[in-house]
Amino acid sequence: MPVAVDASIALVRLPVWPLSYYEGIRGQAFLANRFRQLLGGKRAREMPDLFSKLCHVTSEDGEAFTDEEVVNHMVFVMMAAHDTSTSTLSTAIYHLAKHPQWQERLREKSMALSDDLSLEELERLEEHTWVMDESLRLHPPLPFMPRVTVQGTEFGGYRIPPGVLAGFAPLVVHRDPRHWTRPDAFDPERFSEDRAEHKSHPHAFSPFGGGRHLCVGKRFGQLEIRSTLHQMLRKIRWSVPEDYEMPFRFMPIGKPRDGLPLRVEAI
Ligand code: HEM
Repeated sequence: MPVAVDASIALVRLPVWPLSYYEGIRGQAFLANRFRQLLGGKRAREMPDLFSKLCHVTSEDGEAFTDEEVVNHMVFVMMAAHDTSTSTLSTAIYHLAKHPQWQERLREKSMALSDDLSLEELERLEEHTWVMDESLRLHPPLPFMPRVTVQGTEFGGYRIPPGVLAGFAPLVVHRDPRHWTRPDAFDPERFSEDRAEHKSHPHAFSPFGGGRHLCVGKRFGQLEIRSTLHQMLRKIRWSVPEDYEMPFRFMPIGKPRDGLPLRVEAI
């Protein structure tokens, strides 16, 4: 999947080896073929998983997705669901390594609970949520969401004609000093009820997008991240050298350039 995502921003869009676009097309074809192989089984019997649901869902008029539509949705979800969650986890793990006092604070909470948490208990992990949100603020997995204006509009005193690329960039908004105190600092408590900096504007904090295309997997992704952190905190302690600064690649989906080397010890 990563090669297919990288190809989305390739400047030279020719499927010619050794260009990244070539690797991306191959990666996409590999995934699509795999889903095509599984399609028959999913069509045959309805199961609770998304792949199966997409095969069986119909509109009010009885319309269903074609095989290719189901396959394309599945390839998209691999990127939308997987790469975004791993990106968030990587940055949360980095910040917890850089700020061991926060790692211990969260570990204390996790140790006081059982190993296997219910969905409600996961949602009540307040400080884990602050750390997750602060990681999403500083390193939004999708730093820029491109759009094209369908009609002319005006924004911030500028007239924007129809058919123009006009994106929304959480990366910029998330560090806007009009909404955040010391915007470049890792400070999870800014999400606490007392401070609630994320509520300073309806879109000040938008790692999951907004409007009609708001992430459909938002809640699932948040639960997945809280749950993984909870398990990691209970089982391992991790660190980075004091002077380590994670080299980060923001586009097309944020990730540490060096694979984030960590020192890990069992608890
Ligand atoms: C931390 C994890 C995640 C982040 C940061 C994230 C972020 C986003 C963002 C910013 C968008 C809007 C893109 C745009 O407007 O152009 C989006 C859309 C979407 N996300 Fe997520 N996402 C995450 C997890 C997930 C998961 C776990 C799933 C599925 C299980 C998922 C499925 C989708 C889908 C299907 C869309 C397209 C919605 C539409 O266009 O109507 N995402 N996501």
